[in-house]
Amino acid sequence: MKTEIVPASLKQVYSLKVLLKTFFSYSNQPEKIKENMKKGHSYYLLNLNGKTIGFIHFNELKSFYRLNGVAIDFPFRGQGFGDKLTKFLLDKAKKSHKSVTLLVDSGNESALKLYYKLGFKKVRVSKRTLNGSPLLLLRWTPKN
Ligand SMILES: CC(C)(COP(=O)(O)OP(=O)(O)OC[C@H]1O[C@@H](n2cnc3c(N)ncnc32)[C@H](O)[C@@H]1OP(=O)(O)O)[C@@H](O)C(=O)NCCC(=O)NCCS
Repeated sequence: MKTEIVPASLKQVYSLKVLLKTFFSYSNQPEKIKENMKKGHSYYLLNLNGKTIGFIHFNELKSFYRLNGVAIDFPFRGQGFGDKLTKFLLDKAKKSHKSVTLLVDSGNESALKLYYKLGFKKVRVSKRTLNGSPLLLLRWTPKN
């Protein structure tokens, strides 16, 4: 079982679009992905034996990273891949001494478990909602 995390190229925007459309109802247009890439957002793909099974989308700001999305295709869940992709970003953040923030649906149990397990802490309930459900703002801070 060979896994690799590789930056998504513009050519791979289509497969990303499919993944994004499956897991998130927003920013799934190829134009939006390309626009984000031009703005410096990072999209990384997780490949398992050469097949893309997940992705992570984040962007680096002055003092922190924003995690915009992480997803694993259904048949591959519960096998540590979401953990692996998220840790990939946390390693980057650790190296640059930056925190990581994200917004997550308060009803998204598996994502919340993953984030809390990795050391994210709840900052507050955001004013923003997703399909009527409040979003939580979580933050991970590197330990010195
Ligand atoms: C959230 C998500 C990325 C987790 O990916 P995954 O590969 O299944 O997660 P892992 O196998 O790495 O599990 C890591 C931890 O997540 C939690 N977790 C994963 N699946 C879970 C489930 N079905 N129920 C409860 N907790 C779960 C557990 O704490 C687990 O750690 P443990 O096995 O030591 O208990 C995946 O469920 C997903 O793609 N969801 C849809 C997209 C999404 O909602 N993304 C997050 C919001 S941006």
